[in-house]
Amino acid sequence: MRKKLAAGNWKMNGTEAQLAEVDSLIASHPDPKVDLLLCPPATLIERMARRVGTAQIAVGGQDCHAAVSGAHTGDVSAEMLRDAGARHVILGHSERRADHGETDACIRAKAETALAHDLIVVICVGETEAQRDAGDTLDVIRTQLAGSIPDGVTGAQLVVAYEPVWAIGTGRTPTLDQIAEVHDAIRAALTERLGAAQADTIRLLYGGSVKPGNAAEIFAVSNVDGALVGGASLKAADFSGIIAALE
Ligand code: G3P
Repeated sequence: MRKKLAAGNWKMNGTEAQLAEVDSLIASHPDPKVDLLLCPPATLIERMARRVGTAQIAVGGQDCHAAVSGAHTGDVSAEMLRDAGARHVILGHSERRADHGETDACIRAKAETALAHDLIVVICVGETEAQRDAGDTLDVIRTQLAGSIPDGVTGAQLVVAYEPVWAIGTGRTPTLDQIAEVHDAIRAALTERLGAAQADTIRLLYGGSVKPGNAAEIFAVSNVDGALVGGASLKAADFSGIIAALE
């Protein structure tokens, strides 16, 4: 049985004051029944990890470089994330694919480096609205999975997040049938690629306008093992509502 996972992606939001939300989250979920992960901006990773202390919230990065170290001004390495207290890293978020031209091959190279540094990778896939309208959703997802997931990854090392680009920060979500169709297809692709023993243990998250009000119905969908939450992860009260729906 896969343990549910509620993950928050703070994106480029938050300075010291924002860490008060972590305190509130710990206070409202002292003994969470699901796994919790928060991915703050790189500047807050170490402070968040210290703030979390022994509480059951994992801390993750939002990206890392494919190179181990070197002349890459402004970038953060997998080793640095580990050193700062991260145990996970989000890779291939559609905002990075769009803003930084990240390709599947680039995401795969980053994932290989992250795995080599004992980070769990949260690989994001998702179609644009034009791709959905053209009926290409499943092809797009399968291509992204095939290109971005490294060979030999184990179920414990990988989380996959399905984030339709058009649902991110828009208040729009796919129908429950559409979410089920994609999540079932992701599970099938992972099974074909990695074998059932590994694929069955990989958590598949849905991301895109998840709120306390729609979380329960989304979490009831086939092969949805949790959520990758953007805006609603910034306020402990909202994220708590989502966690409660998952518990
Ligand atoms: O990575 C999470 C994200 O892209 C979803 O954002 O704000 O729609 O929950 P949001």
